[in-house]
Amino acid sequence: MVETKQWRADPLTAGLENDPQIKAAAQCLIEGEVIAFPTETVYGLGGNAKSRDPIRKIYEAKGRPSDNPLIVHIATPEQVREICTEINPIAKKLMDTFWPGPLTLVLPSRGEVSDAVTAGLSTVAVRMPSHPVARALIRTANLPIAAPSANRSGHPSPTKAEHVLHDLDGRIAGIIDGGETGVGVESTVVDCTTTPVTILRPGGISREQLIDAIGPVADDPAMTRPDQTPKAPGMKYKHYAPEAVMYLVPGGGERIQGLVAHEKNNGRRVGVLTTEENENGYPLADVVLTCGRRGELESVAHSLFAVLRDFDSKKVDVIYSETFPEKGIGKAIMNRLSKAAAGRLID
Ligand code: TXA
Ligand code: MG
Repeated sequence: MVETKQWRADPLTAGLENDPQIKAAAQCLIEGEVIAFPTETVYGLGGNAKSRDPIRKIYEAKGRPSDNPLIVHIATPEQVREICTEINPIAKKLMDTFWPGPLTLVLPSRGEVSDAVTAGLSTVAVRMPSHPVARALIRTANLPIAAPSANRSGHPSPTKAEHVLHDLDGRIAGIIDGGETGVGVESTVVDCTTTPVTILRPGGISREQLIDAIGPVADDPAMTRPDQTPKAPGMKYKHYAPEAVMYLVPGGGERIQGLVAHEKNNGRRVGVLTTEENENGYPLADVVLTCGRRGELESVAHSLFAVLRDFDSKKVDVIYSETFPEKGIGKAIMNRLSKAAAGRLID
């Protein structure tokens, strides 16, 4: 156990690069420690990507399988060129359109980052976050920062500092509390070494936005076919799971009410995951939690992981969840929900 230092940084303050809290956190990174920090998607657990020791600490703190590579976070275009051998015109267009922002590009690695970061692959995943605290931290440390989501492996990704502390207090050197993150689901991971490029993980930038910018894109077949091995190693692991058994119920409403009634007869404590529009639609359930508004899928993404974590504190045995249209950010929402439910869908 170590003492986890806590710093605070308001993303709306000007001149964060001179903030003593950011400087102290950056100094920890320079000294080879690992610290958690907010990004616009979720909190990350960062360490110097060029050095093996901090990367080992990241895997250890998370309990992460070592074959699952990390995303390298950078703050300037020069840093991408230091890390990757080739930036093809499509990759360049994606960077110009969506960076800084919630898009991760898989590119050929120059071998500048530790093998521990890439899990021995010849490619490296790179992203330029837009969160002012993340940007100030990376600039101040003046290092490429490898950072997976700052949760224990298998848990929902953290969107608040308290989620990080719940999972990692005593296991990491520090955390910068920059308030709640915005997008709420992780970045979209796009493999730029294929033609057309391939979406390996749906996320904060939608398929439609990518197509608008560069034309055709492919989906990793593993996203819809369980018999295929995902190209992003992390996509094969159990993820986002609340403690209760969760089921997705297309149609929601009366179908969920029927299921709730059945579970109650069997003496189970039942939770329902819905949105503000339907909050009063499940009078039989023991716990009804809402994530945003169905009419605004961004608001659902924003609070999804916090709500999954809230169910743990409500001690329910089973959760029935509504489903969402797979358009825009709805694709990432359904991907995370379906993992949280370990694929259990009541059709
Ligand atoms: O929004 C995000 O992306 C957050 C914040 C902190 O930036 N980070 C994040 O990292 O979600 P993580 O480690 O939880 O997920 C990284 C994903 C994993 O599925 C991993 O397997 C995949 O990216 N990945 C990393 N490097 C890769 C590579 N070279 N080829 C294919 N997939 C890769
Ligand atoms: Mg993660």
